[in-house]
Amino acid sequence: MPPGAAEAPPQAAAGASARGLLPEAAEQALSRLAGLAPSPVLRRRLEGAAPLLAALAPLPSDAPLSLLDSPSWAALLDAVTVQETRLFRAASQITALADRLPSLPGPPRLLSAGCATGEEAWTLAVLATEAGLPAEVIGIDLCRPALAAAAAGRYGAGPPDALREVPPDYRPYFRRCGDLIEPLAPAPRFRRANLLDLPEDLGLFGAILCRNVLIYLLPGARAEVMRGLVERLLPGGLLLLGPTDAPGPELPLRPEPGASGTWRRR
Ligand SMILES: C[S@@+](CC[C@H](N)C(=O)[O-])C[C@H]1O[C@@H](n2cnc3c(N)ncnc32)[C@H](O)[C@@H]1O
Repeated sequence: MPPGAAEAPPQAAAGASARGLLPEAAEQALSRLAGLAPSPVLRRRLEGAAPLLAALAPLPSDAPLSLLDSPSWAALLDAVTVQETRLFRAASQITALADRLPSLPGPPRLLSAGCATGEEAWTLAVLATEAGLPAEVIGIDLCRPALAAAAAGRYGAGPPDALREVPPDYRPYFRRCGDLIEPLAPAPRFRRANLLDLPEDLGLFGAILCRNVLIYLLPGARAEVMRGLVERLLPGGLLLLGPTDAPGPELPLRPEPGASGTWRRR
């Protein structure tokens, strides 16, 4: 800067205002760091998160994905991600997995990728218990309050009834405690992780569920997440996706006969 020239105030930087980061700049940053696709819901949530945006500076072009671990970005993600989920969601896909659980490769390790408040991971824990498998079940997500709720593993009894999609055979694995439902299975483990930047020590799995997550991501991020998850799948392992997700033909996957939205790693 030439001597005597005034340094531009931070609010003059691209994407910033006197009240911090603008919603559109935050939306672009979340696209780059978490793969989130711009949408009216995301924009509305960002517009409602003004105090959180005020704490954020524009994203440097070389910002690492680990920036999402900083308190300000983590708080923004807590506020804007969508957590809708259910026990035994898409029950026919889940029961098709139950049939295949005993023949999965490796020690029984199951991953719920984008686990939200944990219903999917607890569903996996119940399936493994019913199959008599000492499975390690892990749930990962970026949203900290959702992960805390997941670890508590207690769900509203209704309305709507948390058990509404649970097939009758599995109902004995859930206990009603007043207005809460508790799954009766060894507790899954939950940890905060970005699907675009999976932790080195996550390990390999016999089955990975990534359902109703990719629809919130940009096409490039979807492909990258699927590539990363397939790398964490043992040969012969299963990848369960949401109803509108389709893995690219370059991935070493083939559709699993008789199990919708399910792909087996070659
Ligand atoms: C709608 S929930 C899906 C929950 C569950 N898988 C199901 O099918 O019921 C989507 C979850 O994906 C998480 N998510 C979105 N992008 C993510 C990312 N890049 N890394 C980790 N989690 C992410 C969100 O925080 C949210 O909890």
